[in-house]
Amino acid sequence: MRIVSIANQKGGAGKTTTVMNLASVCAENSRVLVVDVDPQGSSAWWADRAGDSLPFDVADDTDPRNLARLRELPYDVVFVDTPGSLEGRDVLSTVLGESDFVILPTEPSPLAFAPLMATINEVVLPAGVNYRVLVNRVDPRVPSDLVDAQGLLDGAGFARFEAAIRDYKIHKMAPIEGRVVTQYADGDSRIASKAREDYRRVALELVSYWANTKGGK
Ligand SMILES: Nc1ncnc2c1ncn2[C@@H]1O[C@H](COP(=O)(O)OP(=O)(O)OP(=O)(O)O)[C@@H](O)[C@H]1O
Ligand SMILES: [Mg+2]
Repeated sequence: MRIVSIANQKGGAGKTTTVMNLASVCAENSRVLVVDVDPQGSSAWWADRAGDSLPFDVADDTDPRNLARLRELPYDVVFVDTPGSLEGRDVLSTVLGESDFVILPTEPSPLAFAPLMATINEVVLPAGVNYRVLVNRVDPRVPSDLVDAQGLLDGAGFARFEAAIRDYKIHKMAPIEGRVVTQYADGDSRIASKAREDYRRVALELVSYWANTKGGK
């Protein structure tokens, strides 16, 4: 089992969106559990909207101290959604102590980088856990935004995914509709498959980082 946390103390960076959609593409060939330790409960709310239709399980125990016990359960991957605030730092530290990998979604804007850097330097690196930044909400019409963001991250010496997630309106409505990217109807057409492709690329890259390491702690 791998426990993968999605973190960034910057609110609204795309943590919940990443958790739910990445979980859905991973569920195409793995047993996946989502755990929501954010008191805001956005993943749990999204799952509620979905009823029984999600292709993965969602745990309702939100106490991060119980994460260690998850390793006894029959899942291949557990994605943990975490709070997006400085007050959530204790929760985040507890979660990272139990995690095998951390994904830090960020918007491509330079203004988003200060809180991202603080999270990496003050919480992720001290926990000694492997991580990658994931550039999210890239405007498909402005590919140079991605190049600029990647340049800034590389310049700061931060590890990042090669893959990125584009900004699509379809993602915004998904929580209230209770669906995840693998369930976007083909009627949503080209955008739906591009959106899926984004998350599948991230999933493949994630697995490649695990290829030479043992599963779990
Ligand atoms: N790739 C994307 N394309 C379009 N909209 C997106 C994308 N990623 C996130 N969003 C939107 O941005 C907003 C914030 O995303 P999300 O709730 O996933 O962030 P978060 O980091 O979990 O926030 P919080 O810190 O409050 O928990 C939501 O309205 C979401 O629909
Ligand atoms: Mg969230």
